[in-house]
Amino acid sequence: MNAPILEARGITHAFGSLVVTDAVTLELAPGERHGLIGPNGAGKTTLFNIIAGEIVPDAGSVHLNGVDVTRHAPDRRARLGLARSFQRNNLFTDLTVRENLAIATAIAHRVAHVAWSAFGRHREIHDSAEARAVELGLEDVLDTVTRHLSYGTQRQLEIALALALEPRILLLDEPTAGMSPEETAAMRATIATLPSSLTLLVIEHDMEVLFGLADRITVLDYGKVLLQGAPQEVRDSDLVRNRYLGTQ
Ligand SMILES: Nc1ncnc2c1ncn2[C@@H]1O[C@H](COP(=O)(O)OP(=O)(O)OP(=O)(O)O)[C@@H](O)[C@H]1O
Ligand SMILES: [Mg+2]
Repeated sequence: MNAPILEARGITHAFGSLVVTDAVTLELAPGERHGLIGPNGAGKTTLFNIIAGEIVPDAGSVHLNGVDVTRHAPDRRARLGLARSFQRNNLFTDLTVRENLAIATAIAHRVAHVAWSAFGRHREIHDSAEARAVELGLEDVLDTVTRHLSYGTQRQLEIALALALEPRILLLDEPTAGMSPEETAAMRATIATLPSSLTLLVIEHDMEVLFGLADRITVLDYGKVLLQGAPQEVRDSDLVRNRYLGTQ
């Protein structure tokens, strides 16, 4: 495969005596759509937190585009093109959609201040954040206070905010969790329209959604990699079926 854009190698982490990530290795090629599945408590979100820099692992390394970021804070990783969404909403719910976008844009601008200020791109970046929100179907709610949005629309907004950073890698933690079938369909459509150059790592319990979007899937179980392979291999695996899919 091409040189990986995201490489997590031998990641091990314990909370107290509970080992939640156990020698996990994950490599994503540029533009790859990679799914991460596993039972509740398997360590999926913890692995995201380690990749994003919110948790420094006990052992192992994280490389972004060949740069060792294992000890870099989240904002330094963001500057290298990493963005994420959260399992639960992470919005300013008293502000409008437009205001949330402005804040995300301002943060993105500050994050990349040196590079972007040189090109005087502030206005352009702001406009492109709004344009992306429009692409995600948020044009009619730009002036709506976020807490008045439906849950599904709030989650669409989260994606728009993550994209304000103009990331090269996007981590999505259960983007369709708690959604109605219509909201799930809208989110699937959103994910399908993300640029093919964007590398995606997606935690998803909805197998139909995941099999529809992933090039490769990693199955975690008790913090360990149970299987890594194409969607069909995962679907055909007795091990995965017994341990995970059977419980769906
Ligand atoms: N900050 C923490 N302190 C202590 N234990 C934690 C912490 N964060 C997570 N855990 C524990 O680590 C294990 C893995 O949690 P994690 O959230 O990574 O699982 P998950 O695979 O994302 O599960 P889910 O599908 O329910 O979201 C769980 O047993 C959880 O209780
Ligand atoms: Mg989780």
